[in-house]
Amino acid sequence: MLAPAMRIFITVMALIVLAGVGSATWLMTRQPSVAQAARIAAVLESTAPPGEPAAFAHCASCHLHDGSGRPDGSIPRLTGQRRSVLENKLYRLRAGILRMPVMDPFARTLVPSEIAQIAEYLSDLPAAAAPSDATEEERAQGALLYAEHCASCHGANGEGQDELFASRLCGQYAGYLNRRLAEVAAGTRGDADAVMQDAIDAVPVDDLRAIVAWLAAGNGCTSP
Ligand code: HEC
Ligand code: HEC
Repeated sequence: MLAPAMRIFITVMALIVLAGVGSATWLMTRQPSVAQAARIAAVLESTAPPGEPAAFAHCASCHLHDGSGRPDGSIPRLTGQRRSVLENKLYRLRAGILRMPVMDPFARTLVPSEIAQIAEYLSDLPAAAAPSDATEEERAQGALLYAEHCASCHGANGEGQDELFASRLCGQYAGYLNRRLAEVAAGTRGDADAVMQDAIDAVPVDDLRAIVAWLAAGNGCTSP
C-alpha cells in the first residue's frame, strides 16, 4: 500500500505527462487543413483586382496589386510602363543579365507565358502623375532640358520607345528617377544603362533634378 503523499505525487506526474503529450499532438496538427488553406488562398485572390495574373501575386507584396509601388521611390511605379520595356527587363532579370538584388529570386521563377501576362497587365493599367514639390519654374525649365537631352530616346513626352526598349519615364516617382540617374552617372548598373551614360554625362546634376521634376509631374504623359 502506497503512502497518500506518494499517491498524490504519482497522480500529479501522470497528469503532467498526459498534458504534455496532448499539447504536443495539438501543436503538430496545427498546420492549416486543406480546407483552411483553400480559404486563405481565396482571401488572397479576392483582394487581387480582376484580371491580375496569378504570377503577379507575389510581385504585389512589394509593387502592390495596382503596380503603383511606393511614392518615396524605393519601389518604382510599374503601371503604364511599356509592354516591350517590361518584357525586356523581365527576360534580362530572368537570365541574370540585369541584376536587381531584391527582385532576382522572384524574376528568376517566371516562365515566358507569365512574363507576357504580367507585361500586358501592367502596361494596360493607367499611369498617373507622381507627387512632387517642384515649382512651376523648375518644371518649365525641366521640360526644355528634357527635350534637349532625353527626348530622342525616351519620346517627346517621356512616354518611352519600343525600338530601343527605352523606359516610359513620365509619372515615375522623383525619388526613383533620381536614384536611377545617380546609378547611371556612377556607372554602377552597366548593361543597357550604358546606352545613356554618354547622354547624361554632360548634364549637370541640377539640370537632371529639373528634368526629373517635370517627368514626375507626368506633364503630357499620353498613352503609348
Ligand atoms: C521584395 C520586393 C519586390 C518583389 C517581390 C518584386 N519586386 Fe520588382 N522591384 C523591386 C524594387 C526595389 C525595384 C527597383 C530595383 C532597383 O532600382 O534596383 C524593382 C524593380 C522592378 C522592375 C523594373 C522597373 C524599372 O522601371 O526599372 C520591374 C519590371 C519589376 N520590378 C517587376 C517585378 C515583377 C514582375 C515581380 C514579381 C515576379 C517583382 N517585380 C517582384 C522590388 C520587388
Ligand atoms: C541614347 C538613348 C537614351 C538617352 C539620350 C537617354 N536615355 Fe534614359 N534610357 C535609355 C534606355 C535604352 C534605357 C533602358 C535601360 C534598361 O532597360 O536597362 C533607359 C533608362 C532610363 C532610366 C531608368 C528607368 C528604368 O526603367 O529603370 C531613367 C531614369 C532614364 N533612362 C532617364 C533618362 C534621362 C533623364 C535622360 C536625359 C537626361 C535620358 N534617360 C537619356 C536610353 C536613353
